[in-house]
Amino acid sequence: MRKPLVAGNWKMNNPDESSKVLLENILEHAELLETQLLQEDNSSAIDIAVFPPSVYLKDAQEILTGSQLHWGTQNVSAYDEGPYTGEISASMIKGFGCDYVLIGHSERRCLYEKLELDQFVLDQIVAQKYEMAIEHDLIPIICIGETAEDYASGKTEEVIARLLDVLIAHKGVKTLAKTVLAYEPVWAIGTGKSATPEWAQDIHAFMRKRIAEHDVDTADSIRIIYGGSVKPDNAKAIFAKPDVDGGLIGGASLDVEEFSQICLAAATK
Ligand code: PGA
Repeated sequence: MRKPLVAGNWKMNNPDESSKVLLENILEHAELLETQLLQEDNSSAIDIAVFPPSVYLKDAQEILTGSQLHWGTQNVSAYDEGPYTGEISASMIKGFGCDYVLIGHSERRCLYEKLELDQFVLDQIVAQKYEMAIEHDLIPIICIGETAEDYASGKTEEVIARLLDVLIAHKGVKTLAKTVLAYEPVWAIGTGKSATPEWAQDIHAFMRKRIAEHDVDTADSIRIIYGGSVKPDNAKAIFAKPDVDGGLIGGASLDVEEFSQICLAAATK
């Protein structure tokens, strides 16, 4: 049984004190939800993680330590240490009590695309970041998704298979079991135009099938979450699908009421 995960990607929002306030509010709501989220064995029915901008990690650590909530960063360096201006390493991230890290978000891939790096090279960078995260005991949430162009030309599965194959070749299929995959169609991110639950299910099932070609246990146990315009009014239907194990939430994670409702939808899947 896979435990659903709801991850809130704040992106570059909530400057200064508003980050603290949101962290405190999320904690308060999570405590209120706790009785609904607790299972018979006293463990929580879902995992919840938040990803504030890195400069607010210390606040996250101070406010969330000792709670059921997890936190992480929106990116990690592909290198361990050295002359990489502006980068943050996995060991530094771990030092702030993080459990998770987002890798390969399409909004970051876009930055590299402007440098005209080809997609295969980008996939290799994602794989290197994944390796760094695993080495430092962080759980990478690896984002995979097709652009609107890929979608229109029927290339979704091709794009997804390409990254999955790179990840499996890089560290073997068993290591992939230590990650979370996030299917994030680029055309659905921040657009208000979510994938239908049926489309999300089909793609998640495709991903599981591709992994199962290497190892059935990994395919069964790996969590695959959906991201792209998840809101309280569509979360339940998306999460109800058998291969969808929760969500990566952008805009709605900035509103504590909406985020809580989405968490509840995942917990009552
Ligand atoms: P969104 O963002 O929920 O605002 O579409 C999702 C994401 O970027 O992870």
